Amino acid sequence: MSDKDDEMVVTPWEVRGKIDYDRLIKEFGTQRLDDKLKKRIYKIAGESHFMLERDLFFSHRDMDWVLNEYEKGDKFFLYTGRGPSGQVHIGHLVPWMFTKWLQDRFGTRLYFQLTNDEKFFFEPDLSYDDVKGFTYDNALDIIATGFDPEKTYILQDIEDIDLMYEIAVQVAKKVTFSTARAVFGFENSMNIGGIWYPAMQAVPAFLHQHLTGEKVPCVIPCAIDQDPHWRVTRDVAEKLGYYKPASIQNRFVPGLQEGGKMSASDPMSAVLTTDKPKLAKKKVMAAFTGGRDTAEEQRKLGANPDICSVFKYYTFIFMPDDKDLENIEKKCRSGEILCGECKQILAPMMVEFLENHQAAREEAKERIHEFSAERLRTEARK
Ligand code: TYM
Repeated sequence: MSDKDDEMVVTPWEVRGKIDYDRLIKEFGTQRLDDKLKKRIYKIAGESHFMLERDLFFSHRDMDWVLNEYEKGDKFFLYTGRGPSGQVHIGHLVPWMFTKWLQDRFGTRLYFQLTNDEKFFFEPDLSYDDVKGFTYDNALDIIATGFDPEKTYILQDIEDIDLMYEIAVQVAKKVTFSTARAVFGFENSMNIGGIWYPAMQAVPAFLHQHLTGEKVPCVIPCAIDQDPHWRVTRDVAEKLGYYKPASIQNRFVPGLQEGGKMSASDPMSAVLTTDKPKLAKKKVMAAFTGGRDTAEEQRKLGANPDICSVFKYYTFIFMPDDKDLENIEKKCRSGEILCGECKQILAPMMVEFLENHQAAREEAKERIHEFSAERLRTEARK
């Protein structure tokens, strides 16, 4: 790998290179999620969460303030999203699972934005029909994640523009092209849809107050790649009479191949939620690990879980119980277990997970209306 390949790039549209999370906190100007804050969250939630304990969620904006408000009786609402450019992969589910936990424990409303306009503007090879197809398909994954239908509203940018446009134009007027260029790195070749788009991603942070008149904090769980959007959204918020949205941000689940990237163009780099179990198993068995060149060497010297994609999958999703994770780590480092054996443990977990998720996706086909933004139109008319 050359130095150039290793160079870190993290934007909402591109993540590559070796990710230095401390540097991101500094450069993006977010705050570290420290133990004190985690304890405050657990106190209200009534339990801890492994994604916080393991520092998988590691960065935030204004979460202390959100908890202060909560303790004063001012609830927050949740906002997260998905750009429907293809099938959902296992990594996307991490912020969604955590969002579900927050929704369950804090009893909050969730606005889930499906940014089909974004993906149409930013993906040169996607047709309008492709994007529409993925919008429907990804909605099934969102519903299959288990959000509470009574408290969850899926907003599709193109179809639900009537609910969103009034806020979007107000945001757009407050953001200059030079700010957009500085924050997002837009070049002259960017189509004007792409330059407009950040106004749309700001909208759900303000929509609740706009529709209901309730001025309450907004919390956005997402990976840190989306943070540039929140900088712009927070910049305009108070000028428009809204609170600045808070955010809680996760690390990236790495790809299954060496180099760590999940890429739509490399099908072996990520397990998709729609993969047939046999294919998912094949991807796991071909995954990059921290193993030694020979079995003999590995039995003697042990392997390195720190660089192993299989171990990362255990850490982020498949082994929420610390005892299980410690056990496998010990066996890995000591050479007691070889990489092939370790993959044979992950593969059936992955298969079971996918079978359950895919069954839930099938059921979701009958339930899309339960999550529809139509209910917000009724609310807006009141
Ligand atoms: P998108 O579709 O790229 O990603 C959806 C969510 O998944 C997070 N994510 C990851 N998390 C862990 N490991 C990974 N490898 C990984 N890759 C992506 C993303 O940060 C995101 O939270 N523009 C957005 C859609 C959007 C949005 C939002 C996302 C609109 N409003 C509010 C979060 C919050 C997008 O294209 O996300």
